[in-house]
Amino acid sequence: MDLFEYQARDLFAKHGVPVLDAVVAQTPEEARDAAQKLGGGVVVVKAQVKIGGRGKAGGVKVAKSPDEAQQKAEEILGLDIKGHVTKKVMVAQGADIAEEYYFSVLLDRSNRSYLAMCSVEGGMEIEELAVTRPDALARVPVDALTGIDEAKGKEIVDAAGFDAETGAKIVPALMRLWDVFKNEDATLVEVNPLVKTAGGDIIALDGKVTLDDNAEFRHEDHAALADKDAVDPLEAKAKQNDLNYVKLDGQVGIIGNGAGLVMSTLDVVAYAGEKHGGVKPANFLDIGGGASATVMANGLDVILNDEQVKSVFVNVFGGITACDAVANGIVKALEILGDEASKPLVVRLDGNNVDEGRRIIEEAGNPLVTLVGTMDEAADKAAELAAAAK
Ligand SMILES: Nc1ncnc2c1ncn2[C@@H]1O[C@H](COP(=O)(O)OP(=O)(O)O)[C@@H](O)[C@H]1O
Ligand SMILES: [Mg+2]
Repeated sequence: MDLFEYQARDLFAKHGVPVLDAVVAQTPEEARDAAQKLGGGVVVVKAQVKIGGRGKAGGVKVAKSPDEAQQKAEEILGLDIKGHVTKKVMVAQGADIAEEYYFSVLLDRSNRSYLAMCSVEGGMEIEELAVTRPDALARVPVDALTGIDEAKGKEIVDAAGFDAETGAKIVPALMRLWDVFKNEDATLVEVNPLVKTAGGDIIALDGKVTLDDNAEFRHEDHAALADKDAVDPLEAKAKQNDLNYVKLDGQVGIIGNGAGLVMSTLDVVAYAGEKHGGVKPANFLDIGGGASATVMANGLDVILNDEQVKSVFVNVFGGITACDAVANGIVKALEILGDEASKPLVVRLDGNNVDEGRRIIEEAGNPLVTLVGTMDEAADKAAELAAAAK
C-alpha cells in the first residue's frame, strides 16, 4: 500500500524523523484555518496525490498568508496530476531551504537485501539523476539484521559525498528513517527532498512510503491508512470475507481452488476467448482449500455483482475437500443467492469423489449451471456463453 505524503509525514514524526508541522485540508476554507493554526506565516500548500512530480505539475505552492493559502488551495483542490485528482491538500510550514538532498531505503528483491540510496543532489527527479549522473547517486546495501546504525549511516553519507559536518547531522535522520522502514514493515521509504535549512536543521520535506501488505497482520493501525475512496467495493467485500480476489478487465468470472489452478484457468479462458471475439477473464478468485457452501456463496456473490461478468467458470479440483462437498457448496450457494444469481455458470469438477460431485450438481438441475467434463471444454463453454451475452 502506497501512502499519501501526510500519512508518511505522520509515520516519520512517530519515529522521530524531523518534519515540519502540517495540517490536512479538504476545502479552501479549511486550508485557510490550517495556515492560521500553523502561526499565520509562510506555508506551503501541497496536493495529496499518490504520484510524484507534484511540484512541477502545479501541486505545490507557497502562500505568505492564510488568505493566500485559501487561494492556493482553491487552485490545487480538484487539480488533475497525471490522472490523480486532488481531493486533499496538506498545508505545511514553509521551510527556508539552503540545500536539497535525496535519501531512500527499499527492499532490493534482486539482491535479496535492502538498499539505501542517497545523493547530495535532491529535489530533481531521481530517475533522471540515476540516468544522467549515476555517480551522483550512492547505492549502499543494508543488512536486514543490523539495519542503518551509526556506522552504516556514516557509510551512506560518505558514499554520497557529504562534507563531514553536514554528514554528521544527517546520520541520525537516516537512522530514524530506518526505524520507520523496519518498524512499520515498509518496502520503500523515500525522502526527496531531505533538506538543510538556512538555520542548519535537517528536515524531511517530502515523504513517500510503501507498506508491505503481507505484514498487515502485525499492524492494526495500518488498516486505517487505506484510501477508502480508491478501493474497489467488490475488492473490499472480498477482503472482508478473506477471499483472494483480483479484478481484471474481461467478461468471464473465474472461481477456482488454489492459486496454481486459478492461474492456469486464466490462461485457458484467455486462449478459448480468442475464438469467441476476444473474451477475457474478468477476475482472479481463489477460494482456497476448504470450499464450503459459505465460501462458495461469498465468492459467487462477489463475482456475480461485477457488472462486466457475463458468465462464470467454476473450476475445482477436489482434494482434502472432496468434490461432493464442493458440489453441495455450489448448489447451496445458488440457493443462498436466489435471484441474485442470474448469470450462466460453467462447472468443471475433478479429483477426489468426482462422480458423487457431478451427481449432486446434475440432480440439483439448476438451469443456470452447465456441467462440463474437461477444463478446456469448460473454458470454451464459458467464453461462448460470455460472448453470447455481450
Ligand atoms: N514545506 C516546504 N517548504 C518549502 N518548500 C517546500 C516545502 N515542501 C516542498 N517544498 C519545495 O517544493 C518542491 C516539491 O515538493 P515535494 O514535496 O518534493 O513534491 P514533489 O516531489 O511531488 O514535486 C520541493 O523540492 C521543495 O523545493
Ligand atoms: Mg518530492
